[in-house]
Amino acid sequence: MTDHNSASPAAPHRQYWATRLGVILAVAGSAVGLGNFVRFPAQAVEYGGIFMIPYFVAFILIGLPIVWSEWAMGRFGGMRGFNSAPGIFSILYPRPGKSLIGGWSLMIPVGIYSYYVFIEAWCLAYALKYLFGVMPGTVALDEGGETASAAAYFLHMVGYGENGQVFGVDGAFLLACVAFCFAINLVLIIRGLNRGIEWFCRWAMPLLVLVALIVLVRVLTLGSPVAAAPERNVLTGLGFMWNPDGGEEHWWRQLLNAQIWMAATSQIFFSLSIGLGVIVCYASYLRRRDDVALSSTAAAAGNGFCEVALGGLIVIPAIFIFLGADQVQGLGGSTLGTGFMALPSVFAEMPAGRVFGFLFFFLLFLAAVTSSISMLQPGIAFLEEGLHLRRFQAAGILAVPTLIGVLLVMWYSANLVVLDTVDFWLATFGIFMLAMTQLLIFTFSLGIRRGLAALREGSQVGIPSWVGVLIGVVAPLYLSVIFITWLYQQITATEGNRFHALAQGPVLVGFGFVLALLIGFTLLSWIANRRWRAQAAAGLIPDPRMALVSEPEEDAP
Ligand code: PHE
Repeated sequence: MTDHNSASPAAPHRQYWATRLGVILAVAGSAVGLGNFVRFPAQAVEYGGIFMIPYFVAFILIGLPIVWSEWAMGRFGGMRGFNSAPGIFSILYPRPGKSLIGGWSLMIPVGIYSYYVFIEAWCLAYALKYLFGVMPGTVALDEGGETASAAAYFLHMVGYGENGQVFGVDGAFLLACVAFCFAINLVLIIRGLNRGIEWFCRWAMPLLVLVALIVLVRVLTLGSPVAAAPERNVLTGLGFMWNPDGGEEHWWRQLLNAQIWMAATSQIFFSLSIGLGVIVCYASYLRRRDDVALSSTAAAAGNGFCEVALGGLIVIPAIFIFLGADQVQGLGGSTLGTGFMALPSVFAEMPAGRVFGFLFFFLLFLAAVTSSISMLQPGIAFLEEGLHLRRFQAAGILAVPTLIGVLLVMWYSANLVVLDTVDFWLATFGIFMLAMTQLLIFTFSLGIRRGLAALREGSQVGIPSWVGVLIGVVAPLYLSVIFITWLYQQITATEGNRFHALAQGPVLVGFGFVLALLIGFTLLSWIANRRWRAQAAAGLIPDPRMALVSEPEEDAP
């Protein structure tokens, strides 16, 4: 069997994380991103303090169980020679339909990358602007024109008014930032697991936490800086996030609305990077003797800390103090509005706002890069083990769909429709579907008993059996209730119905892009599955269809 391992074309050279801290920081790096510092505060502000209830419930009932199951399934697959989701699912679910599941789980991270990298470029652009002293909100939009507000600057920068206008204001600069972000992601991914991802996360993660702490201290010591509204201070700002009642009598009634549960669950998925084929890939680089339970919990807790204690505590009081409750709620939960319009207005008012503006967008940029590289790794791993490409070839191939994606997102700039459409179909719909599928695979194909054993292997803490029930029964039940209710509401909605809107020009473009990714990756997964079967028939690799019941090979030294 050991021979199989070294000769296995599915994994010619097994790769492993270098250190335990390295893997925790890499997974936390994937998880901590724009979701923590912008998406979370925007959501919390939209629903008010009550949001924290479904948020914590979702973290415990669905977040942690899926985290544990993805780490366990990922390492299970890794020990059997596979690192990509199509490979891992080919052994966890060796039945028809596995290529579609594999394709689905490649489509999500690659598609999300296509717009995430664009937003990453805005973070870089904003950080540089603060650094060089031309803050958004103090520049003239056209020659001799008036100074624009931070919001107007953003809308002009992305060409929000009209398609194809993205390079109107600061066009060349923005384009350079996009190109830089594209390049840095490719370079890191080509440098590989240890010298690229692990190396970068090992210094970027502590640095970004340090920078966030500095910004946090600034925000928490603001007092009540707005003379006209002395009642707006840090405490009332914090109350905005932590008081569930929001001053209303029947505040708990909001909990009867499925929407808030859906929003909290979506936030947990997106933020923890779960249900999208990334963690299974990262976890596959663990060794048999490595601990899974403690490391996965540490990474998830680290993400929670960055989200609630850093992102939430920085952004929510800051925008509340400077903009007031009305304006803040007027953001309507918009992630981009909060991050790139409201916050720059805040830094424009804040004492030493230029410095803190720089620090904030710089940390956002670091957080975004550690996430975006994790969106590429599953695709790279797949092209390597499924189609036997070298890493730089694989990176070159992945550059094509992602470049097409980012160009579409940039070109269809009016209301950022393509960005919004791709985000919805992948980061909401796509994730829900995949998370559900993964849980079903855990329960019925891998089996709770085997799944629990996979989680326990090498673990440094005892894992009680009820964890199996939580992953295999409670989580799927909870998810089905939320998902089905939400789907029903979506399909029957008269306003903002995503299913009805599909036929409209740019929406169709965004949806078409998603569909093309799905078809392309499913086809490639199918080809890879055939190859693995042929190799197994020739005795070159163990048969993936038997992997569920056979013992894995030993780790390479
Ligand atoms: N978790 C990341 C964030 O919070 C986003 C992400 C999505 C990362 C998909 C990896 C894959 O921003």
